[in-house]
Amino acid sequence: MCGITGYIGYRIASPIIIKGLERLEYRGYDSAGIMVYNQGKLEISKTKGKVADLKKILSDKIHKEANIGIGHTRWATHGEPNDVNAHPHTSNSGDLVIIHNGIIENFNSLRKELSKRGFKFESDTDTEVLINLIEDVKNNNNCKLGKAVQIALNQVVGAYAIAVFDRNNPEEIVVAKLGSPLAIGISKDNTEFFIASDASPFIEYTNNAIYLEDQEMAVISLGTDIKMYKVADDSQVEPYIQELKLNLDQIEKGGYDHFMLKEIYEQPRAVTDTYRGRLLANKGIIRVAGIDDNIEKFLKAKRIIISACGTSWHAGLVAEYLFEDLARIPVEVEYSSEFRYRNPIINEGDIVIAISQSGETADTLAAIKLAKEKGAFVFGVCNVVGSTIARETHAGAYTHAGPEIGVASTKAFTTQITILALIALKLGKAKGVISQEKYQSYLYELESIPEKIEQLLKQDKKIKEIAKIYKDSPNFLYLGRGYNFPVALEGALKLKEISYIHAEGYPAAEMKHGPIALIDENMPIVAIAPNLKHYEKVVSNIHEIKSRKGKIIAIVTEGDVDVKVLADHVIEIPHISEAFSPLITTIPLQLLSYHIAVMRNCNVDQPRNLAKSVTVE
Ligand code: F6R
Repeated sequence: MCGITGYIGYRIASPIIIKGLERLEYRGYDSAGIMVYNQGKLEISKTKGKVADLKKILSDKIHKEANIGIGHTRWATHGEPNDVNAHPHTSNSGDLVIIHNGIIENFNSLRKELSKRGFKFESDTDTEVLINLIEDVKNNNNCKLGKAVQIALNQVVGAYAIAVFDRNNPEEIVVAKLGSPLAIGISKDNTEFFIASDASPFIEYTNNAIYLEDQEMAVISLGTDIKMYKVADDSQVEPYIQELKLNLDQIEKGGYDHFMLKEIYEQPRAVTDTYRGRLLANKGIIRVAGIDDNIEKFLKAKRIIISACGTSWHAGLVAEYLFEDLARIPVEVEYSSEFRYRNPIINEGDIVIAISQSGETADTLAAIKLAKEKGAFVFGVCNVVGSTIARETHAGAYTHAGPEIGVASTKAFTTQITILALIALKLGKAKGVISQEKYQSYLYELESIPEKIEQLLKQDKKIKEIAKIYKDSPNFLYLGRGYNFPVALEGALKLKEISYIHAEGYPAAEMKHGPIALIDENMPIVAIAPNLKHYEKVVSNIHEIKSRKGKIIAIVTEGDVDVKVLADHVIEIPHISEAFSPLITTIPLQLLSYHIAVMRNCNVDQPRNLAKSVTVE
């Protein structure tokens, strides 16, 4: 939530900052702003709306000379999205400027204290309180900005990634982090520094980056090295510079109209990258380093608790079927936001698996901390390399999906299921609960998934035709059973979040316990009905829908006969085993929601009120 970026170097800062904000816009897009220091003056432009709106108000004249500045794209927490609440925020003296991602939880009491001392506030934000707190500390201690930031942050409760600038010392930016991500890109010759919530704003300039740990801060000065400190006690920290593998192509649309479409189409490649080097089908081997190193713990596990949010939670539900079915380990799947506050019972021998694309979701991070406090071994499944969750867990496995920029998760879901399937198979084999023959056939089948996804993508045109018919429906119902019940939930979530159509996912048999009352001739029902274990049961459910005149869009196995005669539309999927069917059945649902959203003129990549990484609880 919120993207922050900044630049100090020899180039003109504003185009770098604006382009950086465009790349970070997936994190929030309620308002945007920029500050550059230009020949003794602070030039600040900010506005409600997107970075495109900010670009419109930046005149050609300003910002030309400046080669130091900071920028922000906001997802509102405190205070509605408007020009005043947009960042950057300035201190009362007008000397200090800040951009902030996170929440200062004790901002109300700090604001009261500062008001008593004469500070005035223009906005409703916690951030304006923080910058004035820093100013107050700086004045009282007669110290430099870095020291003032350090002292002030020790009075703050909450989360932050901040960049602060002082016009009295205009060759320096001070940054700090707790709970929200912050990276510093460094040019090879140390003449340029880039600040950002993730590496996308600076990857075309440098691959060298420092990721700040929680409660670390850095003073970045032109022409010198970065100095890093611990926020708690001001002790010095040795900067750790990593070389990033990311490249520019991965974060651009590559000819697709939207990132979401590109990411749907990338799934054959993404799934292959997830199992590359891990699945050696013809040797009958699965290697997942984080599991191999801790195999004893997994084999002894009495229970696995999966904690996640949103789409990652749906992948967790699929994993529940996989682990119970293939490895005979009991599984509970928890919403991180509930788990963290429930005083859950965690026993010795329990393993917690946290699933998160971004690796930054605040509730999942809190669930991990709680599980660790209670003595659990915590394993992470993340996509973003070096993310907070990847670092906070005892061990883990990356999905290697590549950057997912569309706010609606697509390739994250299929790659999470892929890695979780590999783990379940590996454990099932090691525990001797799955026969060698079955194990081997699963390995070959996993290898064939990318090709099967390709086959489905070829039906895009047909799915678009179906989207055209139902794009104006106010409601949708998604039904599935067994492994495909989480897919029904995921299909409904995709439609809701990008097209703003109300949709619900249900286990098909639950329909008669309530949702059947919704069915009439106007209700489209997406029935996931591959010819697998529950086929006959789902066919009966489809009969029930048909007799109430519901419109049926069915996902069936190629060659299907029974559903075809009942359904209004069928989308055929290739033959696939029950366990891996979610990897295939989910693809048409992604495409259906994508096309409906486009036809409804919705902003597919940046749906209203959402943000890609939810770093507030
Ligand atoms: C849905 C979506 C969200 C995320 C959720 C968790 O398309 O993107 O529901 O799945 O916010 O995010 P991560 O996986 O980053 O923890």
